Amino acid sequence: MSRRGWEIPEREVTPEEQYLHRRRFLRTLGGLGAGLVAGCGSESVFKPKEEEGSGPATPTTPGEPGPGPLNKSAFYPAAADPDFPLPEDRPLTSEHTATSFNNFYEFSVNKEVHRLVEGFASDPWSVDVTGLVSNPGKYDIDDLYRLMPLEERIYRFRCVEAWAMTVPWTGFPMRDFIAMVEPLASARYVEMTTFIRPQDAPGQWNHPQWPWPYTEGLTMAEATNELTMLVTGIYGRELPMQNGAPIRLVVPWKYGYKSIKSIVRINFRESRPDTFWSTLWPAAYPFESNVDPDVPHPSWSQEKERLLDGGSRNTVIYNGYGEYVADLYT
Ligand code: MTE
Repeated sequence: MSRRGWEIPEREVTPEEQYLHRRRFLRTLGGLGAGLVAGCGSESVFKPKEEEGSGPATPTTPGEPGPGPLNKSAFYPAAADPDFPLPEDRPLTSEHTATSFNNFYEFSVNKEVHRLVEGFASDPWSVDVTGLVSNPGKYDIDDLYRLMPLEERIYRFRCVEAWAMTVPWTGFPMRDFIAMVEPLASARYVEMTTFIRPQDAPGQWNHPQWPWPYTEGLTMAEATNELTMLVTGIYGRELPMQNGAPIRLVVPWKYGYKSIKSIVRINFRESRPDTFWSTLWPAAYPFESNVDPDVPHPSWSQEKERLLDGGSRNTVIYNGYGEYVADLYT
């Protein structure tokens, strides 16, 4: 019988020492028992920022448990994964553009989300793992930093609105996280959910009729694909709120709305979940939503895409990632 992606024994995907740390961590979930070394790879394209002030902000350094909140900025920049360098056909989108032109409907329908996020608290934060899974529970974001070695990958990113960017994300493969929480064999889909805080998020307050909270979903095969990342950083630093702090999904072969931001819950289930956008307009935003130049949005063509910093390109099936994902859809 062929194995499904998430059934890879953990020792095949994780160095043994870290595997043992994770076992210990899962036994004491909620504690500070997991110290891990950073992953290895090439040097990041980003240089460490100069320390502000005279010393570290907190007593905690990467991989060392300690009192108080974790100094997450010390985890950046992470080592670059040499398998995902800047694509030859694209310039890197500027950091300014990628962090000031955003879709985040919880805050606004216009792109200037960065003007509305100040004061929105994203620390402390935890991700609730629920449903058909052996290790459910609330995973504190600080503990995820300690458990999952961060790496940097440069991906093309294509919005359904026909704009595209090329961005260095920092995070970890979702399949490593899935191996850690151990879904049951009956789990066929992963459902992810964003916060619901209308008092703090004006888009939720102004549009109470929309199907909040924002949810998205993947099949288990998609969630455990090599490309699928849980992302905590961008351009060699922590994610700013407008890009989905403190943790979001990135699935680069699908339209951008699948890449749900600011995740508070990851639920393993047998049936396909409804999603925010497929509930609003199923014909335009189906569950699968792979980038495809031959399938137009009901209101516009998808044949071309506009690069955010200028220029345009022909749209490519699976956003150019067919070698990784095409066999999921045959
Ligand atoms: N996640 C949540 N929770 N809310 C949103 O409105 N917008 C999606 C996706 N994730 C969205 C979301 C859309 S339409 C896109 S194109 C990307 O986030 C944009 O990500 P970026 O702002 O980092 O470019």
